[in-house]
Amino acid sequence: MAEQTPRWASEDFWKKTAIWVTGGSFVILVILTFDSMAKIATGSARVPAFSIINKDISYSYDKGKHRYQPVIGGNAPLFGKTLNEQEAEQLVDLGKKTIQAKNCINCHTLLGNGAYYAPDLTKAWLDQAWGSMEGRENMMVQFLLDPEKNARTYGSNRKMPNLKITEQEAHGIVAFLKWMSSIDTNGFPHNFKATNSGEE
Ligand code: HEC
Repeated sequence: MAEQTPRWASEDFWKKTAIWVTGGSFVILVILTFDSMAKIATGSARVPAFSIINKDISYSYDKGKHRYQPVIGGNAPLFGKTLNEQEAEQLVDLGKKTIQAKNCINCHTLLGNGAYYAPDLTKAWLDQAWGSMEGRENMMVQFLLDPEKNARTYGSNRKMPNLKITEQEAHGIVAFLKWMSSIDTNGFPHNFKATNSGEE
C-alpha cells in the first residue's frame, strides 16, 4: 500500500495553494483599493476640483468612447461670483451636507446611490428641462426653496415636497449639483438628456 499520492492530490499541496491564492488576492485587493481611491479623489482626472463651479460645463458625445462625457469650458462663475478653491469647497460641502441631512436620496439617485421615485440628480445641472444655461442657477434655487409652486413634474405627476431649505443651503446644493455634473461617470445615467447634447 505504499502507493505514492500524486502531488496535486495531497493535503499539503492544497493548503499551500489556498494560502498563496488568498495572499495573492489580498495583495490585488489592496492595489485596486489604492487605484480606486486615486480615481475618485477630488482634483483627479475624472473628478475635478471644487473650483470647477467657476467654469462652464457641458456634456458631449464622444464617438470613440461611445458615451457622453463632461466638457469643461470657459469662465462661468456660479451666481456671478468667482470663488477660490477653499470657498468653492465650503459651498459644495454645505450642499452635500444639506443633501444628506434632508435625505434627498429617499427619492433621487446621486452617483448611483438612492431611489428612482424622482429624476436622477447626478447630471441635474445639465438637464435640458431647465432650458438654456442662462440663469439656470437662480431657477434651481427658486425651485429648491419652493418646489411645490415651481413644480415641473415632467408629466410624471410627481411633486417634490417643500423641504424648508434656506437660501444659503439652496446655493450650496446648486454648487454641489454643478460640481457633480462635471464628474466623468462613464456616461451614467444612461438615458439622460442634457442641454446642448448634440448627437454629433
Ligand atoms: C419625496 C421625494 C423627494 C425628495 C425627498 C426630494 N425630491 Fe427633488 N424631486 C422630487 C420629484 C418628484 C421631482 C420632479 C418633480 C418636479 O421637478 O417638479 C424632483 C425634482 C428635483 C430636481 C429637478 C430635477 C432635474 O433634473 O433638474 C432637483 C434639482 C431636485 N429635485 C433636488 C432635490 C434635492 C436637492 C433634494 C434634497 C434636499 C430633493 N430633491 C428631495 C421628489 C423629491
